[in-house]
Amino acid sequence: MCGIVGYIGSKNSVPVIIQGLKRLEYRGYDSAGVSVINSEGELLVYKKAGKVSKMEESLDLDKYSGTIGIGHTRWATHGEPNDINAHPHLDFDGNIVIVHNGIIENYKAIKKRLSIEGFEFQTETDTEILADLINFNYRRTNDFVTAVRLSLVEVEGTYGLACLCKSEPDKLVVARKGSPLLIGVGDSETIVSSDAAAVISYTKHVIYLEDGEMAIMTKNGYQLKTIEDKEILRDTEVLDLLLDEIEKGGYDHFMLKEICEQPDTIQNTYRGRINFDTGVAKLGGLDTVLDKIVNAERFIITACGTAWHAGLVGKYMIEQYCRVPVEVEYASEFRYRNPIISPRDVVIAISQSGETLDTLAALREAKKFGATTIGVVNVIGSTIAREVDAGTYIHAGPEIGVASTKAFTSQIMSLALITMMLAKYKNTIPDSTLIQLSQELLAIPAKILKMVEMKEKYKLVAESFKNAKNFLYLGRGFNFPVALEGALKLKEISYIHAEGYPAAEMKHGPIALIDENMPVVFIAPHDGTYDKIISNIEEVKARKGRIIALAYEDDENIKNYADYILPVPKTSPLFASILNIIPLQFLSYYIAVMRECNVDQPRNLAKSVTVE
Ligand code: M6R
Repeated sequence: MCGIVGYIGSKNSVPVIIQGLKRLEYRGYDSAGVSVINSEGELLVYKKAGKVSKMEESLDLDKYSGTIGIGHTRWATHGEPNDINAHPHLDFDGNIVIVHNGIIENYKAIKKRLSIEGFEFQTETDTEILADLINFNYRRTNDFVTAVRLSLVEVEGTYGLACLCKSEPDKLVVARKGSPLLIGVGDSETIVSSDAAAVISYTKHVIYLEDGEMAIMTKNGYQLKTIEDKEILRDTEVLDLLLDEIEKGGYDHFMLKEICEQPDTIQNTYRGRINFDTGVAKLGGLDTVLDKIVNAERFIITACGTAWHAGLVGKYMIEQYCRVPVEVEYASEFRYRNPIISPRDVVIAISQSGETLDTLAALREAKKFGATTIGVVNVIGSTIAREVDAGTYIHAGPEIGVASTKAFTSQIMSLALITMMLAKYKNTIPDSTLIQLSQELLAIPAKILKMVEMKEKYKLVAESFKNAKNFLYLGRGFNFPVALEGALKLKEISYIHAEGYPAAEMKHGPIALIDENMPVVFIAPHDGTYDKIISNIEEVKARKGRIIALAYEDDENIKNYADYILPVPKTSPLFASILNIIPLQFLSYYIAVMRECNVDQPRNLAKSVTVE
């Protein structure tokens, strides 16, 4: 959450920072700001509520110019999103300026102490207090790096931060605890950011900061140390990211691009990981813990939001095909409820960003009890990916739209591969079935492409429901998590209230909501539960609900029941949720566009939730 960019080099830092902030805007977009030290040594700050482009429109680029600067795009935690609370924040003396992601938990106590020392405060933020604390320590030590370091030893909470000191304009100091930062090392320029998207235009050579580390950046490089003042030597890594992966490429929105990319991203998830002649799946990243996985007494899947929905699909898959118990836990609950975890458990953390704080904390909790931890992660080099015992990258490529789409399908595909791998080792599926499944898997990209090509059909259904106030999504078995995910997609980008339920649970409460205004999406492929779903549809019809059925393209029978049909190709139940979510992604996308909602940056949300 929140995006940070900092630059020191020979260029004017401000355009570099603004371009970077635009690339990071999916992390937060309540307000934005920059700070620069100009050639006269003045420390200037400019910030505004609203998006980066709004701040840029009124920014005087002749005035705000200098070869060292920092910038921020904010997702508010402390203090409403207005001009004053926007970052960067200056200290009381106007000597230190800081941008910060995370939360300083003991800021009130520090504020009290500093106010006794005569400090006065302009904002409601915890970040301003950190700027003041650094300046307080600067007054004592007359050394910028030491002042930052001593302050960080004292603060409780989380931070990814970048700061400048007017009195020492040749260095940019950054630090991390719980909020990601990476440093790009270019020719006569060094750039820091909360993710690779802001760095990739300048260099592919990066250093990832670990928790408790800080870096002193100069135009010629960087020096790493811990906040306890121990030197660290670490080589740069090469970023595996292409610039066109983080651009819209002609689409109106990142979300539409990412939905339409799924024929490719799904292929990238399984490429090189399955032998189509034998049906045997192999995930190299799990080799070191294979024995633990095969002999696990139980799997615990932990995640948040969409990734949790993928985890629920994973539970159904692993239990059905591998006959091992699986629990699916909201990371935020799991970490605090004193869960029972044993060293015979395997804990799977699923996360697109690899930075979600609750998922990371749940993972750390599991490690404390000696469980084997594995990650199913998209962002390469992210914190979760680095902290797990072993893992598999989903290879969906950068996902910029706040509403997760391609990551969801690739998470499910990764879980399907884990299922097939485990089933082989445990001998719970005959080889002939594994071969059939692998052939089915091979056909998935073409089936997704077919749906992408018929998106206009889904758009027509969206047209009929764009003014709905509520929606219900109902599914059974593998399609229950699809119902949950369909409802989440709709509510987060179109602000229509939507709920997902197991279809049969409807009778135990939600049926009271049904009237002629209630659209009900039934996920009704012709599988083992088809007849039951038809009965549920009848129950809604009898109460005049409006039926939208997601059904096989050749299902003539469904026309007798549904008012609208979202056609989908057939597949095996193992892969059904990958196909069935696609029309629901399109439905929510088109409804949101028709309601003129900001699809890629829905209100109040941020892509990567790095606070509790
Ligand atoms: O990066 P993660 O997968 O850990 O993120 C988890 C959730 O925050 C995320 O899936 C969220 O629910 C999305 N906005 C859903 O579209």
